[in-house]
Amino acid sequence: MKKILVLNGPNLNLLGVREPDVYGTVTLADIEREVTEYAAERGASVDCFQSNHEGALIDKLHEARGAYDGIVYNPGAHTHYSYALRDAVSSIDVPTVEVHLSDISAREEFRRISVIAPVCVAQIKGKGKEGYKEAVDVLLAR
Ligand code: DQA
Repeated sequence: MKKILVLNGPNLNLLGVREPDVYGTVTLADIEREVTEYAAERGASVDCFQSNHEGALIDKLHEARGAYDGIVYNPGAHTHYSYALRDAVSSIDVPTVEVHLSDISAREEFRRISVIAPVCVAQIKGKGKEGYKEAVDVLLAR
C-alpha cells in the first residue's frame, strides 16, 4: 500500500476561522478527513501533520525519508521564503506536491514567489481542498 504524508505549515490549523473570504470555511480537520478517505478509495494510506514551527516541519520531512511514497505539502507562508524547508524537501528524495488553497499567483506580490515549488514534482493552487486530492492523484500516477 502506498503511504502518503499530508503536511500543513503555519496558520493552517486556523482554517475555518482564518480569513474565510480567502480560504473558505473548511477546517483542516475536514481537509484531512476528506483527503484520507480519497486516498483510501485509491488504495493509499495517509498520515497528517501540521505545525506552526519550521524546525518541527523540517524534522517531519526528514522522518519521511524511506517512510512515505509521497508528500502533499501546503507550506503556508514558508512557501515564500523558507530555504530551510526547500532544502529539506530536496534532501529527502520523496516526491512532494506543493498545494495552496488560494491562487497565490493572483494575490499580493510577495505570494507569487515559491522557493519550494522548484524542488517539488508539481504545484497546485487555487482549487481549495480539492487541490489536496489532485495532489494525491499526481503522486499515485507516478
Ligand atoms: C496558502 C497561501 C500562503 O501564501 C499563505 O501564507 C497561507 C496559505 C494557501 O493555502 O493558499 O498560509 O499556502
